[in-house]
Amino acid sequence: MKSFLFKEIKYYEKIDSTNLEAKRILNKGCSNNNFVVVAKTQTSGIGRFNRKWVSEKGGLWFSLVFPDTDFNSTITIFSSIILHKTILNYFSEAPVAIKWPNDIFWNDKKLAGILSVKSENATIIGLGVNINQKRLPEDLMNTATSVYIETKITMNLKNTLKTFLYFFEKNITEYINEDIMSFRQYYKNYDYLYGKKISISLSEKNFIGQAAGISKRGELMVIIDNEKKYFISADKIDIIG
Ligand code: BTN
Repeated sequence: MKSFLFKEIKYYEKIDSTNLEAKRILNKGCSNNNFVVVAKTQTSGIGRFNRKWVSEKGGLWFSLVFPDTDFNSTITIFSSIILHKTILNYFSEAPVAIKWPNDIFWNDKKLAGILSVKSENATIIGLGVNINQKRLPEDLMNTATSVYIETKITMNLKNTLKTFLYFFEKNITEYINEDIMSFRQYYKNYDYLYGKKISISLSEKNFIGQAAGISKRGELMVIIDNEKKYFISADKIDIIG
């Protein structure tokens, strides 16, 4: 692959977790270049809050690795915008939206999640996208979906990854220069939560209000009792009206 940004794509049939493999490679100290780790299946895929991330064959499981970089937390929002653009590139009418801070939803079901972590002065952005799975585990069927389940179309995973990397590379300079400022309008157009009544759980507290988009720093803005509040993180967000 000719990429200015990513010097290497490391493919694996099966691995515990692409995020963990990225950390191991960084620990060995043998790479100063940005690289991508991608696996057909993960035996111990990791989701947010250390939850298990089911990663069977058919999904796209990969990590972008940037040694010696210190992106701020909006890199997750930037990555979700790029992933959203990638899906729309193939399915221009797809009802896909970005759920703050790190999910892509297809209608009301989760299609993809992102887990960004810092390790050894590096930023690792792990992305999990349900693509060609014909079924998901029973306990996820009500809340998650795949591109195949929605469209009955099988995608070429390598090409999908290349398209994602192409959009990432095309937009990263703008992100580095202006953070998410110039992506806010795009986000607003596809904001899953915007205008909805939501419940936010954070550190065992619960807040109820109306979602009002994201700030220029990437916080979720919520109108609570006629006042705008800014959330930098949340444990769980549910739409309640
Ligand atoms: C979430 O909880 O929504 C985030 C899920 C992130 C899953 C991806 S799959 C590729 C990378 N490797 C992992 O172990 N996790 C991330």
